[in-house]
Amino acid sequence: MSAPEVLWYIIPREGPYPWEPAGRRSVDLDYLSRLAGTVESLGYTGALLATDLHDVWPLGSALAARTSTAFKPLLAVHPGLIAPPLLAKMALSFDHLFGGRLRFNVVNGSTDKLRQYGLHVGHDERYALSAEYWSVVKRLTAGEVFDHKGRFYDLKDAGAELRELPPVQEPHIPLWFGGSSAPGIEMAAEHVDVYLTWAEPAAQLAAKLATVRERAAAHGRTLRLGLRVHLIVRDTEEQAWAAADRLLDVTGEATYERQLGRAGDDGVGWQRQFRQHGGRVPAHARELETHPNIWPGMGLFRPGPGTAVVGSTAQVVERLQEYRALGIDTFILSGNPLLEEAYRIAETVLPALGVRRA
Ligand SMILES: Cc1cc2nc3c(=O)[nH]c(=O)nc-3n(C[C@H](O)[C@H](O)[C@H](O)COP(=O)(O)O)c2cc1C
Repeated sequence: MSAPEVLWYIIPREGPYPWEPAGRRSVDLDYLSRLAGTVESLGYTGALLATDLHDVWPLGSALAARTSTAFKPLLAVHPGLIAPPLLAKMALSFDHLFGGRLRFNVVNGSTDKLRQYGLHVGHDERYALSAEYWSVVKRLTAGEVFDHKGRFYDLKDAGAELRELPPVQEPHIPLWFGGSSAPGIEMAAEHVDVYLTWAEPAAQLAAKLATVRERAAAHGRTLRLGLRVHLIVRDTEEQAWAAADRLLDVTGEATYERQLGRAGDDGVGWQRQFRQHGGRVPAHARELETHPNIWPGMGLFRPGPGTAVVGSTAQVVERLQEYRALGIDTFILSGNPLLEEAYRIAETVLPALGVRRA
C-alpha cells in the first residue's frame, strides 16, 4: 500500500482543551506561523483551516507567506457568501502569489449560521445552491470566460477580468468536501475531487463510502477519499484512555450543555456523530468506545469532528490502516495542543504509515 497523504489542522482556538477558556493558550500570528512551519517540516502536506475565530483568507494568506510550496492550505469556504467571480479572483490571486497551492474545503454549514449572514437557505436547498456555485467557481478557476444563467446566479462575461490571472493549477483549484446527507453525497459525486468524512466505526463507514463511490460512478467520476479524525495517541493504551478521561474531567457543565443543546442541528453528518455518543456524558471515557479504539466522546464538548482514535501507537496505526483498506487515501489529523501533537504524531504514527518528511 502506498503512503497516504496526511494533512494537519490549524485553527486559532488552540491549547490542551481549547473548548474551555482555561484550556486555551494565547495565540498570535507568530504562534500560528510556527505551527504551520512545524507542520510543513514534519511531512504533512498542508493543513485544514476550518471556519473559526479568524477568517480563513487572511489567516491562509499569512501562513502561506511564511511557508514554502510544500504547505498547501485547505481553506473552508461556504457557498453563496462571496460572489463566485470574486471568490475565483481571490483564489487565483492566492495561487499566483503563493505558487499554486490553494485547495477549497467546501463547507455547506448550517441553516442557523448562514442566516447570520442573511442567507436564508434550508439544508437541501443549500446543496442546490452549492452545486451551482461550485460548478461556476470551478469553471472560473479553470480560466473560462462565459455567460451563466441558473437558479441562483445570472452572470455576464464571467471571468473576463481574470484573463490575465490564468490558472496555476490544472484543471482547476481542487474541491474537497465533507457531508453525509443524500443531497451532499450527490453534490460531491458530481462536483468535488476529494470526499471527506468524519470517523465512524469501519463497517458503518464502509457502507457510506460505497454509496459515495456508486454515485460518483453514475456521473462517470472517481473521487479520492479522506478521513478527518482526531488522535489521542500515547505510549500505552492505558495512558491514552487516561488522557481521554482527563478531557471529560476538565470540561465544564456549561460546555456539555451547549454542545448537547445542538442535538437538533440539521447536518446529517452531525446527527450520525451524535447518535454514536447518544448525548450521555460517561463517568469513564472508555464506556463510549463503539469499536476498538474508536471514541465518539469528543462530540460531547467539541464542535466538528467528534470522534477520536484512542490508543497506543500500534493500535492507532492499526485503526488507520483499517480505514486505508476501505479506500481512504488521505487523512486530516489533529490532536491537542496542535503544536505538540503535530510532533508526537509525526514521530510515532506517520513513519508507520510510510509518510516521510519532506
Ligand atoms: C471534514 C469536514 C470538515 C468540515 N469543516 C467545516 C467547517 O470548517 N465549518 C463548518 O461550519 N462546517 C464544517 N463541516 C460541516 C459541514 O459543512 C456540514 O456538516 C454540512 O452541512 C454537511 O451536512 P450534511 O452531513 O447534512 O450533508 C465539515 C464537515 C466535514 C465532514
